[in-house]
Amino acid sequence: MAKEKFDLEGMQTKAVYAAKELNRTTAISPPIWQTTTFGAETAEEFAEIAVATKPQEFYTRYGNPNHAMVEQTLAELEGGELALVFGSGMGAIFSAIASQLNSGDHVIAQRNHYAGATTLLKDILPRWGIEVSFVDQTNNAEFAAAVQPNTKLIYVETPVNPLMQLTDLRFIVELAKAHNLTTICDNTFATPINQRPLELGIDAVIHSATKYIGGHHDVTAGTMVGNKDLLERVWRFALVAGAALSPFDAWLLLRGLRTLGLRVERHNQNALALAKFFETHQKVARVYYPGLESHPQFELANSQMTGFTGMLSVELRGGYSAADKLMSSLKLGVRAASLGGFETLVVHPASMWSLQLSAEQRAATGINDGLVRISVGLEDETDLLRDFDQALA
Ligand SMILES: Cc1ncc(COP(=O)(O)O)c(C=O)c1O
Repeated sequence: MAKEKFDLEGMQTKAVYAAKELNRTTAISPPIWQTTTFGAETAEEFAEIAVATKPQEFYTRYGNPNHAMVEQTLAELEGGELALVFGSGMGAIFSAIASQLNSGDHVIAQRNHYAGATTLLKDILPRWGIEVSFVDQTNNAEFAAAVQPNTKLIYVETPVNPLMQLTDLRFIVELAKAHNLTTICDNTFATPINQRPLELGIDAVIHSATKYIGGHHDVTAGTMVGNKDLLERVWRFALVAGAALSPFDAWLLLRGLRTLGLRVERHNQNALALAKFFETHQKVARVYYPGLESHPQFELANSQMTGFTGMLSVELRGGYSAADKLMSSLKLGVRAASLGGFETLVVHPASMWSLQLSAEQRAATGINDGLVRISVGLEDETDLLRDFDQALA
């Protein structure tokens, strides 16, 4: 029996029900459309679907019912008209940025970004005749001063990986409106539970869904959410970029999304408890966490975020050897790339990005040898505190 429509208001309710109508079976957990292609009954039907925008049932690189369920849920959570899924976060970033630009255009980006995005902006776009200016994301005046007559796009990431600096999203929106620029924000660290850039006027949001959206360290994926015209343009580009998501991975993403609100709440709580613990520890020189009053942008964090994420970084007084010792001495946290999942992971950013960022670039961006990035998991707070306490000791 069809149920009456109910307005979905809370984030967890949206995560559970937003894609319900797309599951045309009675199975509570939807099936996996594990197929590369879909049949058409007639030549007319085939011709029509072959040229449609974002068909759900033509060819899986173009779309798939499992993609559609994730996309509808994310569009609802981020507050956007349309969403896309990709085979990785970098697939989303590459398609989002490259689809907007032509030779001769100019982009404003941050000095600090996830290293893969920095490689695209610094090494690849200039080869195609696209100019990029890198500014200090904490300084609004630098963004304003970087605008040129050929500027097309402002690309931001906040909080940024791994130093947890913030970009003033309201300022970026005002600046972009004044100069008719497109704005894209990497919202991976925050998740829509903690920050919704589209509601502040940003044009599109991207995620490495490999992180919190998936949440279980078992799927590599990317997403983009924004207005329909922009997203359809990106979709056409993404068809040839080819970073398509498998139906099973889309199904895993939807499974992850079901508990996003619950998980992020626990990640937030655990990270704040650890940040406060590190702040008073004598072996820790500095804690980077936007939920601490000592964060230089605490006021901005409160004005544009509703929670402060499960990510934090700490700078140890003892440099590389102290950082290495801490990571090796943990009983729960594992030394591993990636973030945003159920288990606590720690990395040494200066080593992980030594290929993408030179020693000078690392020094210029503040990625020092004593820095440890922590993706705080879903463990009990007391166990995490005990573990980091003994590892520091
Ligand atoms: C903030 C951020 N954006 C994008 C990416 C790239 O995502 P993926 O590894 O899914 O391609 C990462 C990966 O760590 C990231 O941390």
